[in-house]
Amino acid sequence: MEQTITDKVAVITGASSGIGEATAYALAKKGFNLVLAARRNDVLEDVAKKCRKEGIQAIAIKTDTSKADDVARLSEKAINTFGHYDVWVNNASNIMYGRFLDIKDEEFRQLIETNLFGYVAGARAALQQFQNQGHGTLINVASAYGGVAAPYSSAYVASKFAVRGLGSALRQELIADRQHNIHVCTVMPGTVDTPIYQNAANRMERAVKAMPPVFSPERVAGVIVSLTEHPKPEVSVGRSMRVPMILFNLSPRLFEAGFSKYVAKFNYQDQPSVPGSGNLFKPSDNASMRGGWAMKRSLKFVGFGVVITATTVIMAILKGSKGRK
Ligand SMILES: NC(=O)c1ccc[n+]([C@@H]2O[C@H](COP(=O)([O-])OP(=O)(O)OC[C@H]3O[C@@H](n4cnc5c(N)ncnc54)[C@H](OP(=O)(O)O)[C@@H]3O)[C@@H](O)[C@H]2O)c1
Repeated sequence: MEQTITDKVAVITGASSGIGEATAYALAKKGFNLVLAARRNDVLEDVAKKCRKEGIQAIAIKTDTSKADDVARLSEKAINTFGHYDVWVNNASNIMYGRFLDIKDEEFRQLIETNLFGYVAGARAALQQFQNQGHGTLINVASAYGGVAAPYSSAYVASKFAVRGLGSALRQELIADRQHNIHVCTVMPGTVDTPIYQNAANRMERAVKAMPPVFSPERVAGVIVSLTEHPKPEVSVGRSMRVPMILFNLSPRLFEAGFSKYVAKFNYQDQPSVPGSGNLFKPSDNASMRGGWAMKRSLKFVGFGVVITATTVIMAILKGSKGRK
């Protein structure tokens, strides 16, 4: 393709599924030209084709974001094609379930390669380009697990806390360097209806399910689009996702006791799972944007959530009043 200088260009990693795919459609509707990246080129080509129906240009670049060279090449191809890019969305990630001691070291490391070093490589390429052109927005899709931890997801939680910290550190460097037209935003969704749970690496011996409340990938995509227009440091998707962070700050010990029970009850199915490394090392065959976890009306989890919240608040108040005596 010949080099053209077009208005708005966005690069999205992990665009072959879930939130990345929904973001591609949402940005295409807003007139962005797109550079879509993931390992499954055939699926990416289908997404690019659908995006082009909005009258924009979209290219698919096969990329393994756990490899820094691949990410650097992705940036070069985007610049060679469009002359620049305004937005880079670091989104490609894997999830893995299992007791810490049951997780193989190479699985833990591979998850960190993709979920953290993949984002680091994206940030390195994007911030260099933004500095060269004088503007740009880096959007890191982290997770509510970048704010509170959960049991049996140690590698994922560690990666998302790290991504959140990376974002805050980079923002402060940009302020110090007076780079006021360059932004770094962190998105922290709760549970989203995508195939990430079916694709998860799993050493739990119990099948995984999406833990309610479940939001649509379009809702997260809408937040990402709004950040391209009005960048903010951190955005949680779904008000309910702020509650665990507030409770954790109120009483870490009580929150962890309650939340570990909530996760054990609502994140796993009764049936056993076949252990495996999911889509950590190679992509899955599952080529749908959604996971089929759309929220069924369930008062059970609301009740459970209310009990954890009330208990944490009451115990924290009692502890506080004892401490004052
Ligand atoms: N779904 C949720 O409940 C939820 C909640 C909070 C945060 N998030 C975050 O949202 C982001 C998107 O997740 P999702 O739910 O949309 O997951 P998803 O549907 O499983 O999509 C993951 C995407 O990442 C790509 N990917 C995985 N490993 C890759 C690698 N090594 N190189 C390049 N691409 C890779 C996958 O494509 P290929 O397999 O084709 O490479 C796919 O396009 C992730 O950062 C996730 O942590 C999700």
